[in-house]
Amino acid sequence: MEKKYDWSNLPFDYSVTPWRFIAKYKDGAWDDGTLSDDPVCHISECSTVIQYSQTCFDGFKAYRTKDDKVVIFRMDLNEERFENSSKRLGIPVFPKEKFMEAVIQVVKANIDLVPPYESGATLYVRPVVYGTSACLGVHPAEEYELRIFVMPVGSYYSDGIKPISLCVSDYDRAAPRGTGDIKSGLNYAMSLYAGLLAHEAGFAENLYLDPATRTKVEEAGGANILFITKDGKFVTPKSTSILPSVTRRSLVYVAQHYLNMEVEERTVLFDEVESFEECSLCGTAAVLSPVGRIVAGDKEILFPTGMQTVGPVVKKLYDTLIGIQRGTIPAPDGWLFEVEG
Ligand code: PLP
Ligand code: COI
Repeated sequence: MEKKYDWSNLPFDYSVTPWRFIAKYKDGAWDDGTLSDDPVCHISECSTVIQYSQTCFDGFKAYRTKDDKVVIFRMDLNEERFENSSKRLGIPVFPKEKFMEAVIQVVKANIDLVPPYESGATLYVRPVVYGTSACLGVHPAEEYELRIFVMPVGSYYSDGIKPISLCVSDYDRAAPRGTGDIKSGLNYAMSLYAGLLAHEAGFAENLYLDPATRTKVEEAGGANILFITKDGKFVTPKSTSILPSVTRRSLVYVAQHYLNMEVEERTVLFDEVESFEECSLCGTAAVLSPVGRIVAGDKEILFPTGMQTVGPVVKKLYDTLIGIQRGTIPAPDGWLFEVEG
């Protein structure tokens, strides 16, 4: 029986939807792939994904616009990142054109599950690739499976755009020349315990510092971070060990070209964070999640915008980004991929 969704009260959670795309890599080549109604993976107990975490994924969204079109936001950048993640893990790259066609195919096959415009919810697209063949020694697999599945989701951290609290983790997220800049399952596996501790202590999410010196702000467990200075500049950490967030890169463009703001992508010292006026996480799942408070041991930073209100600049960034994604504000060329219903 098909699941009924309460569009305006969706969690950010997995649900089984009717169709997903599955392609297989064997004997040195990817097959063409096909749509499937099977949500279960059937793989060896000694597969490289299970033994050695040889897997990466990505995440982006399809939106229903005000005039009832369905559009996918900047999936070319997600494809590029998925390619980089795959290469870094020794996974054969699935061809770009086929990837984008497959995404359109899956969204189309599940088109009735793209939430209505008014609900504010979206259809989340999750491509994932993993080594399926058995390998006891530490080597890349000979065989792989790629899946692209979708599900309707609501907001990740809280009800809409309400400030959250972050905790500076005692653990590190990614080594300087490690895998922080790719979307590998292993980056998230290592964050689970630190995440449990943060949640138990009442925080929405961990903030990670650079592992080499623990003086610079990197990013959160599932989102990049940005700050607004007292004189209205947009500041965001630049580091080779953070994930190149599509949302952050889009917001930099929005700030510069839609809101005439000055942008600084640079090293951000933790010591300067208390001087900022506003703070927000940003990501596909997080969208813009304003941060009201950051705690690091005995130190507590309360942003002037507090825990009840969203700062005016973050609100403007949020409204502009959402407007672009939902077709009420003209998008830059190439940002929206339309899915014909
Ligand atoms: N950083 C991490 C660790 C993430 O998991 C995500 C989520 O994708 C992001 C940043 C945000 O990236 P994007 O805006 O491409 O979703
Ligand atoms: C996303 O924003 O798409 C993410 O993947 C973050 C998190 C859910 C892992």
